[in-house]
Amino acid sequence: MIQPPPLSLYIHIPWCVRKCPYCDFNSHELKADLPEQQYLQALLADLKADLNVENPLREIHSIFIGGGTPSLLSGQFYIDLFKQLHQQLNLSDGLEVTIEANPGAVDSKHFDGFLEAGINRLSLGIQSFSDHSLKQLGRVHDSAQAFKAYRAARSAGFNNINLDIIFKILNFCKVDFVFHNF
Ligand SMILES: C[S@@+](CC[C@H](N)C(=O)[O-])C[C@H]1O[C@@H](n2cnc3c(N)ncnc32)[C@H](O)[C@@H]1O
Ligand code: SF4
Repeated sequence: MIQPPPLSLYIHIPWCVRKCPYCDFNSHELKADLPEQQYLQALLADLKADLNVENPLREIHSIFIGGGTPSLLSGQFYIDLFKQLHQQLNLSDGLEVTIEANPGAVDSKHFDGFLEAGINRLSLGIQSFSDHSLKQLGRVHDSAQAFKAYRAARSAGFNNINLDIIFKILNFCKVDFVFHNF
């Protein structure tokens, strides 16, 4: 029998420290404590509904946790979530799991938990290495925080890191500096 191709799973975390004026995503400024437990239950209920129509035995080869700012949530949240995902889904041995992080909303204490949960790729929302551009974009971080977040992720053990940069805001001279100094 022909096997269907493996699937990818997207998990959305809708909160941010502050809404960037240019952002088109479903993301909202956090105005109270993060409702981690309620959101975990909501995600699991959503997964249950999806599994009524999708075959749970179909292999999943990648998971992308996007936002919003997924790095705001604790490592324990993801440990609990992935425990359930492993029980309910057919996750491939070489599963790639990405989490998006804002350099201005990175708590390096969370990194150990992310890795323990099985998250093995980090996508840092750098946007630009120009502090002037970052200010214009309304970002909550400067370039120094971007370097710091990258180094903290490397020290924690992430060895697959994407730097998310907005084309045309890129400051080429600074990027050259970055790749020689990381
Ligand atoms: C949804 S965010 C998640 C990461 C995190 N919230 C952050 O901004 O660092 C993913 C990326 O989408 C980019 N983005 C948001 N709105 C965009 C837009 N209108 N055009 C291009 N990129 C955009 C952000 O700059 C960010 O790097
Ligand atoms: S932090 Fe990221 S997701 Fe949140 S508003 Fe800014 S670009 Fe959008």
